[in-house]
Amino acid sequence: MKRILITGGAGFIGSHLCERLLKEGNEVICLDNYFTGSKSNIVHLLENPYFELIRHDVTHPYFVEVDEIYNLACPASPVHYQYNSIKTIKTSVMGAINMLGLAKRIKARILQASTSEVYGDPLEHPQPESYWGNVNPIGVRSCYDEGKRCAESLFLNYHRQNNVDIKIVRIFNTYGPRMHPNDGRVVSNFIVQALKGESITIFGDGSQTRSFQYVDDLLEGMIRMMKSKKSFTGPVNLGNPNEFSMIQLANEIIDITGSKSTIKYLPLPEDDPSQRQPDISLAEKELNNWQPVIQLRKGLEKTVTYFDKLLTKEL
Ligand SMILES: NC(=O)c1ccc[n+]([C@@H]2O[C@H](COP(=O)([O-])OP(=O)(O)OC[C@H]3O[C@@H](n4cnc5c(N)ncnc54)[C@H](O)[C@@H]3O)[C@@H](O)[C@H]2O)c1
Repeated sequence: MKRILITGGAGFIGSHLCERLLKEGNEVICLDNYFTGSKSNIVHLLENPYFELIRHDVTHPYFVEVDEIYNLACPASPVHYQYNSIKTIKTSVMGAINMLGLAKRIKARILQASTSEVYGDPLEHPQPESYWGNVNPIGVRSCYDEGKRCAESLFLNYHRQNNVDIKIVRIFNTYGPRMHPNDGRVVSNFIVQALKGESITIFGDGSQTRSFQYVDDLLEGMIRMMKSKKSFTGPVNLGNPNEFSMIQLANEIIDITGSKSTIKYLPLPEDDPSQRQPDISLAEKELNNWQPVIQLRKGLEKTVTYFDKLLTKEL
């Protein structure tokens, strides 16, 4: 049994990670300030004596004895990370410093949830980890992109200078139950609009593509990364390389929900990348042939079931 700290544990990905690591027989400490996360995401775990919930903000130091740290605390969707952009930078940068300081002191292994946003609007396609990215350092998304890039730099510097045992995963678009219903992310947006019978809003002409990874595939990759050999620090891409256009996604969701919604086209927001797709060959090589296994249709069905319950107040 390991004792594991998960920052951002009450969020979408964090809550699934808490659940999975408890199921595997670990002790889990979930730390969150509830900015975008919520107690309802983890309330079902509170009866488990091996689960602890701490209200704390990662921009302040926190001390605890653990074997592993998963650092997920950070709002992940543009509406939330732009709401208080300075705080987003602080969360990424000071959060990383505080958690790396803790890992150094207690000699814990620490994994950073980085993002495909470090590639910005990529000029190389698909993106391998060796690609340095095309990020606008002063654009409205930079609080998130540059915050995450700085966090990666901090991780590598703590590793090189202080031999901290680090792991970095670059997460591509992930979806599933417990996504925030109003965070403007495309999958949750489309599903909520379809279930409410509202128009499905597509930004741009809908031909831009995204790859969508179901949350369980991501968890498998993150846990394999945490268990990987010490010399493999990453960064490693974790995403589903299957690309779908926004129009395809909208049609799939209309089909699953049986909705009468129609599609409405709106102008593209600033700095919206036109294409992003992971090259996952490094993950396959280093993480025991890791590959996403859940097909979009199956993952969407599970997510629609969750949002349907949420909207009809069964959750
Ligand atoms: N969901 C994705 O597609 C995606 C893609 C790339 C990277 N990521 C990264 O994965 C991590 C989790 O993302 P998510 O989708 O679950 O988002 P989320 O917003 O649901 O979860 C983030 C959690 O961090 C908490 N948090 C935010 N600021 C905090 C602070 N200062 N102190 C303590 N807690 C804080 C929030 O309350 C929330 O519970 C994030 O670091 C995100 O950048 C997610």
